[in-house]
Amino acid sequence: RSVDARKLVYEAREQGYAVGAINHHNEETAEAILLGAKDADAPVFVQIGRAIIPHMGIRRAFDIVRRSEEETGKSCVIHLDHGGYDEVVEALKLGVDSVMYDGAHLPFEENIATTRRVVEAAHFLGVPVEAELGKIPEVEDLDSVNWEDYYTDVDEAVRFVEETGIDYLAISVGIFHGISATTEPRLDMERIETLAKETGVPLVLHGVSGLPDETVREAVARGVAKLNIDTELRLKFREGIEAVWSEGDRHLEAAMSEGRDRMRAEVTRKLKLFGSAGRA
Ligand code: G3H
Ligand code: 13P
Ligand code: ZN
Ligand code: NA
Repeated sequence: RSVDARKLVYEAREQGYAVGAINHHNEETAEAILLGAKDADAPVFVQIGRAIIPHMGIRRAFDIVRRSEEETGKSCVIHLDHGGYDEVVEALKLGVDSVMYDGAHLPFEENIATTRRVVEAAHFLGVPVEAELGKIPEVEDLDSVNWEDYYTDVDEAVRFVEETGIDYLAISVGIFHGISATTEPRLDMERIETLAKETGVPLVLHGVSGLPDETVREAVARGVAKLNIDTELRLKFREGIEAVWSEGDRHLEAAMSEGRDRMRAEVTRKLKLFGSAGRA
């Protein structure tokens, strides 16, 4: 297997675009991501996220991506998203191409220590590591969020990157997971630029669902080279399912096909927006 995830992200950073990283939830959504990326001729990360693990486990989620690669003729980076230590180890054993270890809930020194252990194991296998500093809130928790407690601190980030040896850094700059009907995400663009400059590693922006196109472009211009997106694409899948299924409940397969096709088209649109089309 010859997918060099680190090289993909570093090249994107150097050339001023970002690689899309999209969570899959089943066979149809995995296919939608790969076919949408194929249509855009773009590199892509297919992510095994937190939600899918209790549903089917890491191994099945991994196997689905592998099989979809064969069926679509499009290869991708298989990436573990927001992993705990044990999940990272399981994913490394399966042969993923890239991992995220999420120790953002830990006290700073502990986050450093655990992330460093993950980096040692992953780098031994040639697998790059993403880690999180600062905390990225969920949309459900926005009411109780004091942003100052969530933002990534620049001095801490510099130390974190130096002492852990991670390859790319997930940052908290006003973003949240999910889409809010009432709160528009406001990104601290200067913090993004400073973090990119001071840490020297490509930055990862999570929670890209709900951001206007212009905001995405500006974040990329300031140093983000991997963009994580899930909710908006999942909603396209749901729209397609509902459009067909509302006509009658005897058509689950037709509904899932429509979900896949609508998600596929939106994946292509997003990867063009990220600047990664034509870069595969
Ligand atoms: O980061 C993990 C999940 O993708 C969270 O996304 O808030 O849209 O469920 P969600
Ligand atoms: P959204 O669901 O807001 O796009 O966030 C996805 C994400 O960050 C996955 O790690
Ligand atoms: Zn995330
Ligand atoms: Na979001």
